[in-house]
Amino acid sequence: MDLPRYDPSRTYEWNYGRAIAPPDVEIGPVPGPWSFLGLPVDSPLGIAAGPLLNGAWCLYYAALGFDVVTYKTVRGRARPCYDLPNLVPVTCGMLRGDEPWVAVSAEMRGTWAVSFGMPSRSPEEWRRDVEWTRSRLRPGQRLSVSVVGTLAQDWTLDDLASDYAMCARWAKESGADCVEANFSCPNVATRDGQLYQHPADAAVVAASIREAIGRTPLVLKIGYLPDADIAEAFLDAVEPFVNGLAMTNSIATAVRAEDGSYLYGGQRRGICGAATFDVSMEQTRRMRAVIDRRRSSVQLIGVGGADSLDRVLAYLDGGASAVHLATAPMVRPDMGIRIRSAWRRSPPNGPPS
Ligand SMILES: Cc1cc2nc3c(=O)[nH]c(=O)nc-3n(C[C@H](O)[C@H](O)[C@H](O)COP(=O)(O)O)c2cc1C
Repeated sequence: MDLPRYDPSRTYEWNYGRAIAPPDVEIGPVPGPWSFLGLPVDSPLGIAAGPLLNGAWCLYYAALGFDVVTYKTVRGRARPCYDLPNLVPVTCGMLRGDEPWVAVSAEMRGTWAVSFGMPSRSPEEWRRDVEWTRSRLRPGQRLSVSVVGTLAQDWTLDDLASDYAMCARWAKESGADCVEANFSCPNVATRDGQLYQHPADAAVVAASIREAIGRTPLVLKIGYLPDADIAEAFLDAVEPFVNGLAMTNSIATAVRAEDGSYLYGGQRRGICGAATFDVSMEQTRRMRAVIDRRRSSVQLIGVGGADSLDRVLAYLDGGASAVHLATAPMVRPDMGIRIRSAWRRSPPNGPPS
Protein backbone atom coordinates (compact mmCIF):
# COMPACT_ATOMS: atom_id res chain seq x y z
CA MET A 1 0.00 0.00 0.00
CA ASP A 2 1.51 3.33 -1.02
CA LEU A 3 0.51 5.67 1.78
CA PRO A 4 1.74 9.25 2.20
CA ARG A 5 4.07 9.81 5.14
CA TYR A 6 6.02 12.57 6.82
CA ASP A 7 8.96 13.62 4.61
CA PRO A 8 12.02 14.26 6.86
CA SER A 9 13.89 15.96 4.00
CA ARG A 10 11.28 18.75 3.97
CA THR A 11 10.49 21.34 6.59
CA TYR A 12 7.89 21.05 9.32
CA GLU A 13 5.93 23.81 7.50
CA TRP A 14 5.91 21.82 4.29
CA ASN A 15 4.74 18.69 6.07
CA TYR A 16 2.16 20.69 8.01
CA GLY A 17 0.61 22.02 4.84
CA ARG A 18 0.69 18.76 2.98
CA ALA A 19 -2.74 17.75 1.69
CA ILE A 20 -3.41 14.32 3.15
CA ALA A 21 -6.81 12.69 3.28
CA PRO A 22 -7.90 9.72 5.39
CA PRO A 23 -7.44 6.62 3.19
CA ASP A 24 -10.39 4.37 2.56
CA VAL A 25 -9.05 1.14 4.06
CA GLU A 26 -10.70 -1.66 5.96
CA ILE A 27 -9.60 -1.66 9.62
CA GLY A 28 -10.29 -4.87 11.49
CA PRO A 29 -11.20 -4.85 15.20
CA VAL A 30 -8.83 -5.55 18.08
CA PRO A 31 -10.08 -8.12 20.59
CA GLY A 32 -11.37 -5.99 23.48
CA PRO A 33 -13.08 -4.25 25.25
CA TRP A 34 -10.75 -1.30 25.90
CA SER A 35 -10.88 2.04 27.60
CA PHE A 36 -8.57 5.02 27.72
CA LEU A 37 -8.57 6.74 31.12
CA GLY A 38 -12.14 5.61 31.64
CA LEU A 39 -13.36 6.53 28.14
CA PRO A 40 -14.41 3.61 25.93
CA VAL A 41 -12.12 3.13 22.90
CA ASP A 42 -11.85 0.53 20.16
CA SER A 43 -8.26 -0.46 20.93
CA PRO A 44 -5.31 0.44 23.17
CA LEU A 45 -3.39 1.68 20.12
CA GLY A 46 -2.61 5.36 19.82
CA ILE A 47 -0.22 7.82 18.24
CA ALA A 48 2.06 9.67 20.66
CA ALA A 49 2.52 13.44 20.57
CA GLY A 50 4.63 14.44 17.58
CA PRO A 51 3.70 12.82 14.27
CA LEU A 52 0.25 14.44 14.14
CA LEU A 53 1.02 18.05 13.23
CA ASN A 54 -2.61 19.05 12.79
CA GLY A 55 -6.13 17.73 12.34
CA ALA A 56 -5.53 16.33 8.87
CA TRP A 57 -2.68 14.17 10.20
CA CYS A 58 -4.81 13.11 13.20
CA LEU A 59 -7.65 11.94 10.98
CA TYR A 60 -5.22 10.23 8.61
CA TYR A 61 -3.78 8.01 11.36
CA ALA A 62 -7.20 7.55 12.97
CA ALA A 63 -8.21 5.93 9.66
CA LEU A 64 -5.13 3.71 9.81
CA GLY A 65 -5.92 1.81 12.99
CA PHE A 66 -5.03 4.20 15.84
CA ASP A 67 -7.91 4.95 18.19
CA VAL A 68 -6.31 7.59 20.41
CA VAL A 69 -4.66 10.31 18.39
CA THR A 70 -2.49 12.85 20.18
CA TYR A 71 -2.34 16.30 18.64
CA LYS A 72 1.29 17.47 18.54
CA THR A 73 2.25 19.67 21.48
CA VAL A 74 0.78 23.17 21.26
CA ARG A 75 1.63 26.37 23.10
CA GLY A 76 -0.03 29.57 24.27
CA ARG A 77 1.65 31.49 21.45
CA ALA A 78 3.03 30.68 17.99
CA ARG A 79 6.58 29.32 17.89
CA PRO A 80 8.62 28.38 14.78
CA CYS A 81 10.26 25.00 14.30
CA TYR A 82 14.01 24.44 14.61
CA ASP A 83 15.90 24.39 11.30
CA LEU A 84 16.41 21.19 9.32
CA PRO A 85 17.49 18.50 9.91
CA ASN A 86 14.56 17.73 12.22
CA LEU A 87 14.93 13.97 11.93
CA VAL A 88 18.35 12.28 11.66
CA PRO A 89 18.59 8.46 11.55
CA VAL A 90 21.14 7.11 14.03
CA THR A 91 22.80 3.78 14.55
CA CYS A 92 22.99 2.29 18.02
CA GLY A 93 22.13 -0.77 20.06
CA MET A 94 19.44 -0.67 22.73
CA LEU A 95 20.01 2.58 24.61
CA ARG A 96 20.62 2.55 28.38
CA GLY A 97 20.13 6.25 28.93
CA ASP A 98 23.76 7.13 29.75
CA GLU A 99 25.29 7.25 26.27
CA PRO A 100 27.36 10.42 25.70
CA TRP A 101 26.51 10.35 21.97
CA VAL A 102 25.10 8.25 19.15
CA ALA A 103 26.32 8.09 15.54
CA VAL A 104 24.46 9.27 12.48
CA SER A 105 23.33 6.50 10.15
CA ALA A 106 23.03 6.78 6.38
CA GLU A 107 19.86 4.68 6.54
CA MET A 108 16.82 4.70 8.79
CA ARG A 109 16.92 1.49 10.82
CA GLY A 110 14.18 2.32 13.28
CA THR A 111 15.82 4.98 15.48
CA TRP A 112 16.40 8.67 14.88
CA ALA A 113 17.31 11.92 16.59
CA VAL A 114 14.37 14.31 16.80
CA SER A 115 14.85 18.07 16.74
CA PHE A 116 11.72 20.19 16.35
CA GLY A 117 11.83 22.38 19.49
CA MET A 118 8.08 22.02 19.99
CA PRO A 119 6.84 24.46 17.32
CA SER A 120 3.26 25.67 17.63
CA ARG A 121 0.69 27.45 15.52
CA SER A 122 -1.12 30.36 17.13
CA PRO A 123 -3.78 29.40 19.70
CA GLU A 124 -6.50 30.76 17.36
CA GLU A 125 -5.37 28.36 14.64
CA TRP A 126 -4.86 25.22 16.75
CA ARG A 127 -8.04 25.71 18.77
CA ARG A 128 -10.12 25.89 15.60
CA ASP A 129 -8.30 22.87 14.22
CA VAL A 130 -8.76 20.79 17.41
CA GLU A 131 -12.50 21.50 17.31
CA TRP A 132 -12.68 20.49 13.66
CA THR A 133 -10.69 17.31 14.33
CA ARG A 134 -12.78 16.19 17.29
CA SER A 135 -15.99 16.57 15.33
CA ARG A 136 -14.68 14.15 12.68
CA LEU A 137 -13.41 11.26 14.78
CA ARG A 138 -15.50 8.10 14.90
CA PRO A 139 -17.18 6.84 18.07
CA GLY A 140 -14.60 4.63 19.79
CA GLN A 141 -11.83 7.10 18.95
CA ARG A 142 -10.42 9.82 21.18
CA LEU A 143 -8.47 13.01 20.75
CA SER A 144 -5.74 13.83 23.22
CA VAL A 145 -4.14 17.28 22.92
CA SER A 146 -0.57 17.74 24.09
CA VAL A 147 0.24 21.11 25.65
CA VAL A 148 3.30 22.80 27.06
CA GLY A 149 3.96 26.05 28.90
CA THR A 150 6.25 28.60 27.28
CA LEU A 151 8.77 30.23 29.57
CA ALA A 152 9.28 33.97 29.23
CA GLN A 153 12.13 35.93 30.78
CA ASP A 154 11.90 36.37 34.56
CA TRP A 155 8.91 34.05 34.83
CA THR A 156 8.25 32.29 38.10
CA LEU A 157 7.05 28.72 38.44
CA ASP A 158 3.53 30.06 39.02
CA ASP A 159 3.68 31.96 35.73
CA LEU A 160 4.73 28.80 33.94
CA ALA A 161 1.96 26.82 35.66
CA SER A 162 -0.62 29.41 34.57
CA ASP A 163 0.58 29.19 30.98
CA TYR A 164 0.29 25.38 30.99
CA ALA A 165 -3.18 25.71 32.54
CA MET A 166 -4.33 28.24 29.95
CA CYS A 167 -3.32 25.95 27.07
CA ALA A 168 -4.95 22.98 28.79
CA ARG A 169 -8.19 24.89 29.28
CA TRP A 170 -8.21 25.96 25.64
CA ALA A 171 -7.61 22.36 24.55
CA LYS A 172 -10.50 21.16 26.69
CA GLU A 173 -12.81 23.94 25.48
CA SER A 174 -11.97 23.00 21.88
CA GLY A 175 -13.17 19.45 22.51
CA ALA A 176 -10.10 17.47 23.60
CA ASP A 177 -11.13 14.22 25.29
CA CYS A 178 -7.89 14.24 27.21
CA VAL A 179 -5.12 16.73 27.90
CA GLU A 180 -1.52 15.53 27.84
CA ALA A 181 0.92 17.95 29.45
CA ASN A 182 4.45 17.58 28.18
CA PHE A 183 6.74 17.65 31.23
CA SER A 184 9.75 16.36 29.29
CA CYS A 185 11.30 17.82 26.20
CA PRO A 186 14.91 16.74 25.77
CA ASN A 187 15.50 19.41 23.13
CA VAL A 188 14.88 22.43 25.31
CA ALA A 189 17.23 23.04 28.23
CA THR A 190 14.82 25.17 30.24
CA ARG A 191 12.49 24.33 33.11
CA ASP A 192 9.50 23.67 30.82
CA GLY A 193 11.36 20.71 29.34
CA GLN A 194 12.59 19.20 32.59
CA LEU A 195 9.62 19.27 34.96
CA TYR A 196 9.57 15.50 35.25
CA GLN A 197 12.86 15.66 37.13
CA HIS A 198 11.50 18.07 39.74
CA PRO A 199 8.56 16.50 41.60
CA ALA A 200 7.63 19.56 43.67
CA ASP A 201 7.58 21.87 40.62
CA ALA A 202 5.69 19.23 38.63
CA ALA A 203 3.00 19.10 41.33
CA VAL A 204 2.50 22.88 41.20
CA VAL A 205 2.00 22.78 37.44
CA ALA A 206 -0.19 19.65 37.51
CA ALA A 207 -2.43 21.18 40.22
CA SER A 208 -2.87 24.32 38.17
CA ILE A 209 -3.81 22.32 35.05
CA ARG A 210 -6.24 20.19 37.03
CA GLU A 211 -7.98 23.28 38.32
CA ALA A 212 -8.30 24.61 34.77
CA ILE A 213 -9.74 21.47 33.16
CA GLY A 214 -12.04 20.10 35.85
CA ARG A 215 -12.68 16.39 35.37
CA THR A 216 -11.17 16.04 31.90
CA PRO A 217 -8.56 13.26 31.97
CA LEU A 218 -5.01 14.55 32.43
CA VAL A 219 -1.87 12.70 31.35
CA LEU A 220 1.68 13.83 32.08
CA LYS A 221 4.34 12.93 29.52
CA ILE A 222 7.58 12.17 31.27
CA GLY A 223 11.14 11.26 30.36
CA TYR A 224 13.47 8.56 31.56
CA LEU A 225 13.85 8.40 35.34
CA PRO A 226 16.51 5.79 36.07
CA ASP A 227 16.40 6.56 39.80
CA ALA A 228 13.53 4.60 41.39
CA ASP A 229 13.35 7.01 44.32
CA ILE A 230 12.81 10.00 42.06
CA ALA A 231 10.25 8.04 40.05
CA GLU A 232 8.33 7.32 43.24
CA ALA A 233 8.72 10.90 44.49
CA PHE A 234 7.34 12.10 41.16
CA LEU A 235 4.29 9.85 41.40
CA ASP A 236 3.77 10.86 45.00
CA ALA A 237 3.78 14.55 44.07
CA VAL A 238 1.49 14.46 41.04
CA GLU A 239 -0.85 11.58 41.89
CA PRO A 240 -3.65 13.76 43.32
CA PHE A 241 -3.97 15.65 40.03
CA VAL A 242 -3.45 13.17 37.19
CA ASN A 243 -5.15 10.21 35.55
CA GLY A 244 -2.21 8.88 33.61
CA LEU A 245 1.51 9.00 32.92
CA ALA A 246 2.91 8.53 29.41
CA MET A 247 6.45 7.24 29.33
CA THR A 248 9.05 7.68 28.08
CA ASN A 249 9.52 10.66 25.87
CA SER A 250 12.94 9.72 24.45
CA ILE A 251 16.57 9.34 25.49
CA ALA A 252 18.55 12.56 25.28
CA THR A 253 22.09 12.45 23.98
CA ALA A 254 24.45 14.18 21.53
CA VAL A 255 24.58 13.16 17.88
CA ARG A 256 27.89 12.65 16.04
CA ALA A 257 28.56 12.58 12.30
CA GLU A 258 30.95 10.13 10.66
CA ASP A 259 33.81 12.67 10.70
CA GLY A 260 33.49 13.00 14.48
CA SER A 261 31.83 16.44 14.42
CA TYR A 262 28.74 17.02 16.50
CA LEU A 263 25.36 17.94 15.06
CA TYR A 264 23.24 20.62 16.72
CA GLY A 265 26.35 22.37 18.05
CA GLY A 266 26.91 19.44 20.42
CA GLN A 267 23.56 19.95 22.19
CA ARG A 268 21.61 16.85 23.10
CA ARG A 269 18.58 15.76 21.16
CA GLY A 270 15.85 13.23 21.91
CA ILE A 271 16.53 9.83 20.42
CA CYS A 272 13.26 8.14 19.54
CA GLY A 273 12.30 4.80 18.07
CA ALA A 274 13.21 1.13 18.34
CA ALA A 275 16.37 1.56 20.45
CA THR A 276 14.42 3.15 23.31
CA PHE A 277 12.19 0.14 23.88
CA ASP A 278 14.14 -1.56 26.69
CA VAL A 279 14.48 1.52 28.91
CA SER A 280 10.87 2.57 28.33
CA MET A 281 9.65 -0.92 29.12
CA GLU A 282 11.82 -1.09 32.24
CA GLN A 283 10.45 2.24 33.44
CA THR A 284 6.87 1.15 32.76
CA ARG A 285 7.35 -1.99 34.87
CA ARG A 286 9.05 -0.03 37.64
CA MET A 287 6.29 2.57 37.75
CA ARG A 288 3.62 -0.15 37.64
CA ALA A 289 5.15 -1.78 40.72
CA VAL A 290 5.06 1.56 42.56
CA ILE A 291 1.44 2.18 41.49
CA ASP A 292 0.36 -1.29 42.60
CA ARG A 293 2.12 -0.98 45.94
CA ARG A 294 0.40 2.34 46.57
CA ARG A 295 -2.95 1.05 45.24
CA SER A 296 -3.00 4.09 43.01
CA SER A 297 -5.46 4.43 40.14
CA VAL A 298 -2.99 6.26 37.87
CA GLN A 299 -2.87 4.58 34.44
CA LEU A 300 0.25 4.09 32.36
CA ILE A 301 0.65 4.72 28.65
CA GLY A 302 3.57 2.82 27.15
CA VAL A 303 5.57 4.94 24.70
CA GLY A 304 8.94 4.23 23.12
CA GLY A 305 10.09 1.81 20.47
CA ALA A 306 6.74 0.06 19.95
CA ASP A 307 7.02 -1.24 16.41
CA SER A 308 5.33 -4.65 16.47
CA LEU A 309 2.50 -6.58 18.07
CA ASP A 310 5.00 -8.26 20.41
CA ARG A 311 6.16 -4.93 21.76
CA VAL A 312 2.61 -3.63 22.13
CA LEU A 313 1.68 -6.74 24.12
CA ALA A 314 4.85 -6.42 26.20
CA TYR A 315 3.77 -2.94 27.29
CA LEU A 316 0.29 -4.18 28.14
CA ASP A 317 1.67 -7.15 30.06
CA GLY A 318 4.11 -4.82 31.81
CA GLY A 319 1.28 -2.74 33.24
CA ALA A 320 0.39 -0.14 30.61
CA SER A 321 -3.27 0.23 29.67
CA ALA A 322 -2.53 1.86 26.31
CA VAL A 323 0.40 1.96 23.90
CA HIS A 324 1.25 5.01 21.84
CA LEU A 325 3.59 4.91 18.87
CA ALA A 326 5.44 7.64 17.00
CA THR A 327 8.48 6.62 14.97
CA ALA A 328 7.27 3.27 13.60
CA PRO A 329 3.99 4.54 12.08
CA MET A 330 5.75 7.65 10.71
CA VAL A 331 8.12 5.41 8.78
CA ARG A 332 5.46 2.82 7.94
CA PRO A 333 2.00 4.39 7.96
CA ASP A 334 0.40 0.94 7.66
CA MET A 335 1.88 -0.07 11.06
CA GLY A 336 -1.52 0.05 12.80
CA ILE A 337 -3.10 -2.20 10.17
CA ARG A 338 -0.20 -4.67 10.44
CA ILE A 339 -0.36 -4.79 14.25
CA ARG A 340 -4.12 -5.24 14.25
CA SER A 341 -4.11 -8.04 11.72
CA ALA A 342 -1.26 -9.85 13.55
CA TRP A 343 -3.32 -9.47 16.74
CA ARG A 344 -6.36 -11.10 15.17
CA ARG A 345 -4.23 -13.98 13.87
CA SER A 346 -2.58 -14.58 17.26
CA PRO A 347 -4.11 -16.73 20.03
CA PRO A 348 -6.87 -15.05 22.08
CA ASN A 349 -5.27 -12.15 23.85
CA GLY A 350 -7.68 -9.70 25.39
CA PRO A 351 -6.80 -6.94 27.77
CA PRO A 352 -4.57 -8.05 30.65
CA SER A 353 -6.54 -8.65 33.81
C1 LIG B 1 8.71 13.55 14.85
C2 LIG B 1 8.52 13.51 16.34
C3 LIG B 1 8.04 14.63 16.98
C4 LIG B 1 7.83 14.59 18.36
N1 LIG B 1 7.28 15.68 18.98
C5 LIG B 1 6.87 15.58 20.27
C6 LIG B 1 6.11 16.61 20.86
O1 LIG B 1 5.79 17.64 20.24
N2 LIG B 1 5.70 16.44 22.16
C7 LIG B 1 6.00 15.31 22.88
O2 LIG B 1 5.59 15.19 24.04
N3 LIG B 1 6.73 14.32 22.32
C8 LIG B 1 7.17 14.42 21.05
N4 LIG B 1 7.84 13.39 20.46
C9 LIG B 1 8.17 12.17 21.27
C10 LIG B 1 7.12 11.08 21.05
O3 LIG B 1 5.87 11.45 21.57
C11 LIG B 1 7.55 9.77 21.71
O4 LIG B 1 7.68 9.97 23.10
C12 LIG B 1 8.86 9.22 21.18
O5 LIG B 1 8.97 9.39 19.81
C13 LIG B 1 9.04 7.76 21.55
O6 LIG B 1 8.12 6.97 20.83
P1 LIG B 1 8.61 6.13 19.52
O7 LIG B 1 9.81 5.34 19.95
O8 LIG B 1 7.43 5.32 19.13
O9 LIG B 1 8.98 7.14 18.50
C14 LIG B 1 8.11 13.42 19.09
C15 LIG B 1 8.62 12.30 18.42
C16 LIG B 1 8.82 12.33 17.07
C17 LIG B 1 9.35 11.10 16.38
